[in-house]
Amino acid sequence: TGICTFDPGFTSTGSCDSTITYIDGKKGVLLYRGYDIEDLAEQGDFLDSAYLLLMGELPTSQQKADFDRELTLHTLVHEQLIQFFKGFKHDAHPMAIMVGIVGALSAFEPYSADLADPESRMRGCLRLISRMPTLAAIAYRTSMGYPVIYPRNDLDYASRFLHMMFAWPTQKYEVDAVLARALDKILILHMDHEQNASTSTVRTAGSSQANPFACIASGIAALWGPAHGGANEAVLRMLEEIGSKENIPRALERAKNKQDPFRLMGFGHRVYKTFDPRAKVMRKVCHEILEHLKIQNDPLLDIAMELEQVATHDQYFVQRGLYPNVDFYSGIVLRALGIPVSMYTVLFAVARTVGWVSQWKEMAEQQQQLPKISRPRQMYTGHMQRDYVPLKERG
Ligand code: CMC
Repeated sequence: TGICTFDPGFTSTGSCDSTITYIDGKKGVLLYRGYDIEDLAEQGDFLDSAYLLLMGELPTSQQKADFDRELTLHTLVHEQLIQFFKGFKHDAHPMAIMVGIVGALSAFEPYSADLADPESRMRGCLRLISRMPTLAAIAYRTSMGYPVIYPRNDLDYASRFLHMMFAWPTQKYEVDAVLARALDKILILHMDHEQNASTSTVRTAGSSQANPFACIASGIAALWGPAHGGANEAVLRMLEEIGSKENIPRALERAKNKQDPFRLMGFGHRVYKTFDPRAKVMRKVCHEILEHLKIQNDPLLDIAMELEQVATHDQYFVQRGLYPNVDFYSGIVLRALGIPVSMYTVLFAVARTVGWVSQWKEMAEQQQQLPKISRPRQMYTGHMQRDYVPLKERG
């Protein structure tokens, strides 16, 4: 019925119109609402970019203060939700916990789940942004058997997260401002990236009018894979596996060999065919942090820099436009911040929640009535109609 284009992986399908994020993959440009990602990360802060993505403009001082207040008012989660965390196996991956817990928020937030009501919609967006760091930190602490640390609302977003991750009830803990600022930049860089796999998943779930908590849980599930948000964790594991600079040529050979499933993690992107502009900022943050922490010889950084140097001059990678992406350096920075490897993708999810809710809200606002349900067609390659064979005749 009707004409259909066949486009596996949606490499040339536009699924929506949007005013949120612009990418020029050939030039390596990324803009949030028209502002360059580098300017936002270097000159702005988490609140600026989050407000910009969600509301459409950079906030005035008053708007920023109100937004901050709104986000900090709802950092606590229902106590009963904390019991939920304790039901997971001790070695559960924090992303597994996050998929379940964020979906479960639907049961705790019935008044913030109505797609058709602008106030309820905004409440859902704000609650998700403010609660994600709390949920992420509790996922880590309960998986370690550590006591839960409640959010300190006098701290900014990034510092609050670091405090919930690393403070101890019996000891004084001061958040290092330089590390918090680095995390703030990481969050900004990861906030949105137009219609990537997880954002498209959020929009698809939203198109059926599912509540925002369920939609974001589906985004977290899509983000988890190593081809998407799981790449930051995979990069670090790959660098550890490479182990020393002498092993780099062998890793490159493996990456080029089509019979070998090994790929250079942190390299390549569906849209960027040049340096990912986020990777440039991340590289700088990486050097700043290692200098601040007086880490002079980080063997993994040495391997990463050499790998970048060799791969970006190798014909295989150049011809295919495979350059370092945001995740290439983020793992090294997160490791220097003391974030455990299993939490890297969780942090990506915390940041991307801002983009997900902004896209979900835009989708709801664009429609006069209700969003059009996402319903791709397929190329059917199976049998045409055939007669049912009763069990006794099947042998
Ligand atoms: N290492 C080796 N070869 C690669 C790589 C890589 N990392 N990425 C792509 N290629 C090759 C691929 O084999 C193919 O070669 P050929 O044309 O000879 O068959 C060509 O480059 C095009 O690859 P593709 O798989 O068709 O490209 P895609 O747009 O479908 O995939 C990607 C994009 C990001 C999934 C892929 O580049 C990849 O797997 N990269 C490693 C994982 C990674 O770093 N992901 C993070 C992406 S950025 C953060 C995010 O969005 O979440």
